[in-house]
Amino acid sequence: MQVVIKSENEIKKMRIAGRLAAEVLDMIEEYVVPGVTTAELNNICHDYMVNVQKTIPAPLHYGHKTSTYPNGFPKSICTSVNHVICHGIPSDKKLKNGDIINIDITVIKNGWHGDTSRMFTIGKVAGRTQKLIDITKECMEIGIRMVAPGMHIGDIGFAIAQHAKNNRFSVVREYCGHGIGKVFHEAPQVLHYGTKGHGLQLQKGMAFTIEPMINIGKRHSKLLADDWTVITMDKSLSAQWEHTLVVTDTGYEVLTVSDNYQFDY
Ligand code: MF3
Ligand code: CO
Ligand code: CO
Repeated sequence: MQVVIKSENEIKKMRIAGRLAAEVLDMIEEYVVPGVTTAELNNICHDYMVNVQKTIPAPLHYGHKTSTYPNGFPKSICTSVNHVICHGIPSDKKLKNGDIINIDITVIKNGWHGDTSRMFTIGKVAGRTQKLIDITKECMEIGIRMVAPGMHIGDIGFAIAQHAKNNRFSVVREYCGHGIGKVFHEAPQVLHYGTKGHGLQLQKGMAFTIEPMINIGKRHSKLLADDWTVITMDKSLSAQWEHTLVVTDTGYEVLTVSDNYQFDY
C-alpha cells in the first residue's frame, strides 16, 4: 500500500480536524463520572460533533458489517472500559468508582480525519492502575518523539515497547496506529513494537496515528462475539492513548491538540 504525502494545504485541513477531535475530549471530561452510562457519553459527544462542531463522527457505520451490526460500527465513539483494549461499544452499563475508560474520538471535517483518545478515571483507582495509565501515555509520547524524516517506523515501536517492558507491562500486537487523512485507516501501519532501523523510512508530509494499547497482564487479546469489542485474554486492565501527527522538516507536529491539551515537545 502506498503512503500518501500530505501537502501544506492538506495539513492545514488536518490541523483543523485534529483540533476538533481533541476538543470533543475536552468537552466530555466533566461528564465522565460515577453513574453515567457509556451510551450517554456517546450521545453527548455525537450531539456536540454534529450540532456544535458540524463534524461527522467517523466511527458511526464504519468498518466491517456483521450479523449483529449490519451497518458497521453502531455508535459515534469508542468507549473501552477496564479490560477492554479497544473498539468498546457504548452501552447502558454505568461507570462506577474505580473504573478506567478510554474514549476514542474520530471526526471528519471538510473530508479530513482527526483521531485521538485519552484515558479517564472514575473516582479512585488503584496505584498500579494509575501507573498503567501514566506509563501508557508516556509510551505514546516517547513514540511521538522518535518521529522525524529519515527515522524508521520500527524506531517508534521499539521505543514504545521498551518503555512498557521496563515497567513490566505488555504491548498489544494485534492492533496498531495507522496512516490517516481523507481516509480513516490507510498506510502505513504503525506497530507499537519493532526493531530499531527497520521498516518504512519517514518522510515529511506523512500523517499517521500513534496509539499504543498496553496491558497490566499478558499482551494477548480476544475479539468478542459482537465482532468489535477487543478484550485482554487474561481480563487484565488495558490502557490506550492516541494522537494524530504529521512528519515535518525537522520532526513532527501533533495535530490532535487543543487549548486545554497541548503536546509537550
Ligand atoms: N478510532 C479507532 C482508531 O484509533 C478506530 C475505531 S474504528 C470503529 O483507529 F469503527 F470502531 F470506530
Ligand atoms: Co486511530
Ligand atoms: Co482512535
